Amino acid sequence: MTLDVAAVRAAYPALADGYAYLDGAAGTQVPASVIDAISGAYRSGLGNAGGVFPASQRADAVTAQCRQAVADLTGGSPEGVILGPNMTTLTYRLAGTLARAWRPGDEVVVSRLDHDANVRPWVQAAARAGAVVRWAEVELPAGELPAGQYDSLLSERTALVAVTAASNVLGTRPAVAEITAKARAAGALSYVDGVHATPHGPTDVAALGADFYATSAYKWSGPHVGAVVASPGLLETLHPDKLEPAPGTVPERFEQGTPPFADLAGVTAAVDHLASLEPSATGTRREKILASMAAAHDHEQALFQVLLDGLGAMPGVTLYGKAPRRTATAYFTVAGTTPAEVAAHLAGRKVNAWNGHNYAWELTGVLGIRDSGSAVRAGLVHYNDRSDVDRLLAAVAELGG
Ligand SMILES: Cc1ncc(COP(=O)(O)O)c(C=O)c1O
Repeated sequence: MTLDVAAVRAAYPALADGYAYLDGAAGTQVPASVIDAISGAYRSGLGNAGGVFPASQRADAVTAQCRQAVADLTGGSPEGVILGPNMTTLTYRLAGTLARAWRPGDEVVVSRLDHDANVRPWVQAAARAGAVVRWAEVELPAGELPAGQYDSLLSERTALVAVTAASNVLGTRPAVAEITAKARAAGALSYVDGVHATPHGPTDVAALGADFYATSAYKWSGPHVGAVVASPGLLETLHPDKLEPAPGTVPERFEQGTPPFADLAGVTAAVDHLASLEPSATGTRREKILASMAAAHDHEQALFQVLLDGLGAMPGVTLYGKAPRRTATAYFTVAGTTPAEVAAHLAGRKVNAWNGHNYAWELTGVLGIRDSGSAVRAGLVHYNDRSDVDRLLAAVAELGG
């Protein structure tokens, strides 16, 4: 299936500003349907949750629909969808909750491929519990996270394995299912960071074997809302800190305070939008999502090849990472120009791209580039087209790339 990228782009008002939005890995634009869903929720009248009057019931319905939408996107169950402000906040919350059961000498495995949001919450929780942190290492120059190393990292003391489904700078997609299977065999839980991976292809939490799967709607055409997907049965065994009068039910007891109801309506609209990327797809919303995200994946990968070939042909450009399975995310430097200067030059040519470590703190340290401004990240999502890539390549070439 090929994506009708012109039709997809027409759905996004912000793309009309003439910029090439290659900053999707830091947050995508939103389609008009998401903007309308958010303003529509406000216009319809929203109360707080749990009341007997219609505006309150609308807020409850919006929340339930959002859980169902995230479940459809990820292959999870709505009763296991925890909603929150963003992945980092939710991960700190779950780390604090899970660590209550950790004893001195228990072990936690994190990786140097991960965004710091799936590292530091675990490292800090482990320190408080007296647990030992073990590190999965990245193999260079490919930027792979070999699954085989987990055999020696795991033990009967391992409580948790935290691993990313895709690196937010190199794009590397580790063999998550293999890693989580090893974790399970050792009696450990797995916490998979799907923030970068989710927008780039179909997601199936069961196939990934993830006990927890974290994602953020603002990376996939939605508003700034995070979610963690787990099995309701697992959540029943966990008891986060909560206010006395707040719901004790699952998943509500993992959610703190009043949620942004209108934004939750936007999350549902974003999932509906993703489901519509491949208009000829039929069946349930889940089936349409799987077909649409497969089409998005193929579209991104075809463009990515053009991007890699173009950058790869420039002698002054150094590209980081070359894992065979990776998202359409390029991370590069240009000889004689700092990443900050490259990004500023690109901005002058109407190309949005990030420079810096992008919170891939351990990874940029391993790559030896963290203290020198790291690199420039240009990532593709479903709404990027050939002209975005061509503009980036022309602008980098101007720098003598
Ligand atoms: C791979 C990855 N994990 C985690 C995060 C943190 O997500 P949030 O901003 O929702 O806290 C990001 C954000 O860029 C990310 O790219």
